[in-house]
This record gives sequence, C-alpha cells and structure tokens, in this order.
Amino acid sequence: MKDKNIRNFSIIAHVDHGKSTLADRMLEITETVEQRDMQDQHLDTMDLEQERGITIKLQPVRMKYDDYTLNLIDTPGHVDFNYEVSRSLAAVESVVLLVDASQGVQAQTIANLYLALDQDLEIIPVLNKIDLPNADIDKRKIELMDLIGCDADDIKTCSAKTGEGVESVLDEIIDKTPPPTVDTDDDPLRALIFDSHYDDYRGVIASVRVVDGVAEKGTKIKLMESEEETQIMNTGFHSPHMVENEKLETGQIGYIATDLKNIDKVRVGDTITEADNAANKPLPGYKEVKPMVFAGIFPKHGDNAKELRKAINKMKLSDSALVFEPEHSQALGYGFRCGFLGMLHLEIFQERLRREFDLDIVATVPSVEYHVTKTDGEELSVKSPEDLPSKQKIETIEEPWMSVEIIVPQEYIGNVMNLVDERKGNYQTTEYLSTSDNQRAILKYDMPLSALITDFYDKLKSASKGYASLNYEFDEYREADVVKLDILVAEEKVESLSTLVWEDKAYRVGRKVVDSLAETLPKQQFKLKIQAAVGGDVIAAEHLSALRKNVTEDLYGGDVTRKRKLLERQKEQKKKMKKSGSVDIPKEAYLSVLKR
Ligand code: GTP
Repeated sequence: MKDKNIRNFSIIAHVDHGKSTLADRMLEITETVEQRDMQDQHLDTMDLEQERGITIKLQPVRMKYDDYTLNLIDTPGHVDFNYEVSRSLAAVESVVLLVDASQGVQAQTIANLYLALDQDLEIIPVLNKIDLPNADIDKRKIELMDLIGCDADDIKTCSAKTGEGVESVLDEIIDKTPPPTVDTDDDPLRALIFDSHYDDYRGVIASVRVVDGVAEKGTKIKLMESEEETQIMNTGFHSPHMVENEKLETGQIGYIATDLKNIDKVRVGDTITEADNAANKPLPGYKEVKPMVFAGIFPKHGDNAKELRKAINKMKLSDSALVFEPEHSQALGYGFRCGFLGMLHLEIFQERLRREFDLDIVATVPSVEYHVTKTDGEELSVKSPEDLPSKQKIETIEEPWMSVEIIVPQEYIGNVMNLVDERKGNYQTTEYLSTSDNQRAILKYDMPLSALITDFYDKLKSASKGYASLNYEFDEYREADVVKLDILVAEEKVESLSTLVWEDKAYRVGRKVVDSLAETLPKQQFKLKIQAAVGGDVIAAEHLSALRKNVTEDLYGGDVTRKRKLLERQKEQKKKMKKSGSVDIPKEAYLSVLKR
C-alpha cells in the first residue's frame, strides 16, 4: 500500500447519543459536503430513518482532511443489527466511542464497546452534547475512565450540534488511528463485505474493505461463502455520493459494483476474491444472520396478494436479512411468513410496505422460533401458532433465551426487578457503572426472547421514568411449557390473533386480550361474543352489546309492511355477518394483544 495517510474509523454509540450529527459535522468541516447542501443527518438516507432518527443502513463515507484520507463507516445503533456493526468494525482500525454527556454510558455503549474490543480496535472516547445545561462532564469522564481504563486527558469533549470541539476529535482520530497494516499488494484479492445494497440500474453493490490485493474494474471475482462468481463492473467510494475510481487498493474502503441481481449472494461478512487467483482462506468472522422474530404478513384485501408478493420480493432486494415463505391461512388468505432480526426490523418492514407500496396489510402477532420434539421423535421448527402440533403429540418444546443487560439508576432497580420477574427472567448479577459513584447499576439477566418481544422495552422505559437502557443477545434454547391461545370473535377464530403463550400464563393473557378487545372493537349491529380458548376449551369470555340502530326511524306513518321488510332485511344481514365472522378487527385491537 502506498498511502500511509489513510485512517479508517467508525463511530459507535447508544441510540440518540449523536452519532449521525457528529458525522454530519465532520462532513462539513472536511468540506466533503458544502454547508449549503447540508441537511441534518446526511448519512441516514432512508426517509424512515430520518423521521425516526434511527440509523439502520450503513453508509461509508470518504473525507479529505489535511493530507489524510478519512474513511468513516456509520453503524446502526440498534441491537437488532449487531452483526452488521461487528462486520463494519472488522473493516476499520479505530472507533470513536461517543457518549452523551447528559445521559452517560448506556447499555449499547457497553455492547458496542465490547464488539470494538473483540476486534482489537483503538478506542477514542468522546463526550458529546457538552452544550446541554445538564451535561455533567466530570462525572461522565469518571464513568468512561472506569469503563475503558483511560486517563481523563484521553477523553475529548464536543458538541456535534454547535461544532465545538469536533476539529480536535478529527485530530485525535488522525493521531490515534493506526494506518492500515499491509504486508504486500501482491497477495490475491481479499475484500471484506460489510454492507451491500441493490441499485436498480447497476445491480448489487458491495461496500468493502480491501484487506489484501487490489480490486479493479473487469476482474473476475468470486464470493467465497456464497460461491457466486461475477465480475467487477467498477469500483469507487462514497463522498457521500458514489464517485467512481480506477481501483481500490489494500487498506482502502469503497464499493465494488457487481453484475449480480440477487443481494442474497452478496452477504455481509463474505469475502470477495479473484475467480482465477483465489485466496486460500476467506476472512474470518462470516456468519449467516438468523431471523429471531416471525410474523405472518397478509394483504388486508384478498385480491392484493399479487401486489404483496411483488412488494416483498422488491424489499428483499435491499434487505438481505429478511426471510419469507408463502403461507396460507383460511381466514387471511395467501400471504407470507416473514422472519426478522428483531422487533424494529419488523416494524420498519411493515411501515415500508405501507408507505412505499401503498399496501394495506394485516400482520399477525409476532412469534419466536420454537423447537418442538414430537412423541414419534420428529423434530419441528415452529414459527407460527398454526404449526404447533396437538398437545398429545408433543414430547418437548424449547424456546430461545437471551442474555440481557439493563443499565438503570439505583432508585428504579426494584421496579425493573419486578418487571423482569413477571416475564420469567432469571437474575444473574448486579454491578455498578462506576466505582466512585453507585448511582447506576448494570443488571444482568437471562430471559426468554418471547418475553422481550411483547412490549418489554416500553414497560422498562415506564418502570424507570425513561432512564433504563437495554441490550440483549442470543444465549441458548431452553425447555418451555407452551400452548396455543386462540381468540374467537363472533365464534369465529381470528387466526391473526392466535399466539403461543406459556401454559401457566394462558389464563391471564386470555383474560387481558378478551378485555382489551371488548374495549377496542367497535360495537356491531349484533351482540358480539369475544372468547379466548386453549385446545378448544374457552378460558375467558366477554360480550359486547349490540349497537342499536333504528332502521325504521326514517319512515313516517304506518307502512307496516315496509317496516317489517326493513327489519327482516336487517336481521338477515346480521345473520350473514355473524356467519362470515366479518367483524373488522382494527389495528388497535392487534396492538392491544401485544400489550399484556
Ligand atoms: P441513531 O441514528 O438513532 O443511532 O442516533 P444517533 O446516535 O445518530 O443520534 P443523532 O445524531 O440522530 O442525534 C440524536 C439527537 O440528539 C438529535 O435530536 C440531535 O439533534 C441531538 N444532538 C446530537 N448531538 C448533539 C449535541 O451535541 N448537542 C445537542 N444539544 N443535541 C445533540
């Protein structure tokens, strides 16, 4: 490698600590983006991301500063995307560990720090938001010193909002980040894919870090894990828009445009090598990301099934973590069982279907993946309540458990403990964030994932007045007593409301669902029965009285025949409605099932 002046770095932080804002200031100071073209959070390109202030997609950007080339890889701050963060970190030499000076270290600060330490990266601690009146710089410095074992002088302070201190953060990055280490340019090409996206005109484009060799236009390449072969259409970098260049050399970060159409073949973590001069070994760390949360997605109107298929196929082009298979349900028709990395991923997916494809959809209650062993020895993976065999046929059911870390101010520890207890969490340990200050604790638990995906985060936030933060990762599968809870409205099973629940909580959940449906369902023209049942036995029931509509009120006088006819027609309609179970279940009713 010729260029000793390359610095590859990332910014890691807890959600909302100011990562994207800091990146924006850097783009401005390095004149990568002219100030007049600056819009807030330049690196977050998706509308939805801007709206919700959550970075999901990684956008690497190249900046020039003095004589240096700085490559910044932005990372998503959400736990759903931890693997993507780990691959981005494998592509850089240092990280800015950004901490909001008013909030201090949070659960994902620690989780991301561990990911960076795993890669042996140089850690550059920075306190952000020093312009805020409640920023407590001295206290936060001690927290950081205890966490990473640095000196107070090693910690930079800045305000990404006003720009104060950002230049000295850039100088620190140049000082502390080692240039990429390179033995020789002559090795066969090995480039680590840390992101990929689909471009309508160019096909699949991989964001890469060249670890060995050179990537040049026209070279025939091979993806070592997916075993796909293609050629390099061109190479370049983002600044922040795509800029084509001659080649990418060892140590550089940029993009490789392929002529592949299927993003599934260009997976994060895979290694690109030359087809005719392949490297012996792929780069370490490849892992296939597995979806953790599953939900059935159906068109609200049956005749939209084709559009839904088209939309999901299109979404898959840009979202390699999404998995789906066709599913048919008697009540909901043709749809798909989709797998997601977590709840945020599912939420974004639904929102995009609505916004970008203008589709009205019904999503079933999300489920985790259960491992079921039947009495005849057959092993099943159950991702949908419909697939659970009858009780007599089940030998064991296992569900995924997570290791959970919660950071919380001391005064809320009791509330958090109660909440976790209710959800079958097993307490492990308590540590304190700082030796000099016993204000905030790190609580560690094991918890079933199924308990985390049903509004746990909202409950945690309210139990701690918004102060608690959460991180979790998969631990292992453990045995569980799980049954299928059915919900019946007007004596018709509402399949999208079926859930798998712990047997000992079935009654409580059933009661709650029935009660909240009774509150949220609009009254119908007939008396409505709402029931919860397990294995055919009703365990909770509620009645919603009929809406009284006087269909004859517009009639004057005594046209008795007409009156009778109208009443009869109304009766007929009611019967029909009941029969087809055509009670429209509004979205709020689905949400009420989740809140339990
Ligand atoms: P994710 O993309 O969700 O991971 O968040 P992020 O870490 O990128 O945070 P983002 O840059 O979106 O900032 C979160 C909020 O904090 C925004 O409202 C910013 O305007 C605000 N913010 C960021 N930096 C500063 C700062 O230095 N001072 C003040 N007062 N606000 C800031």
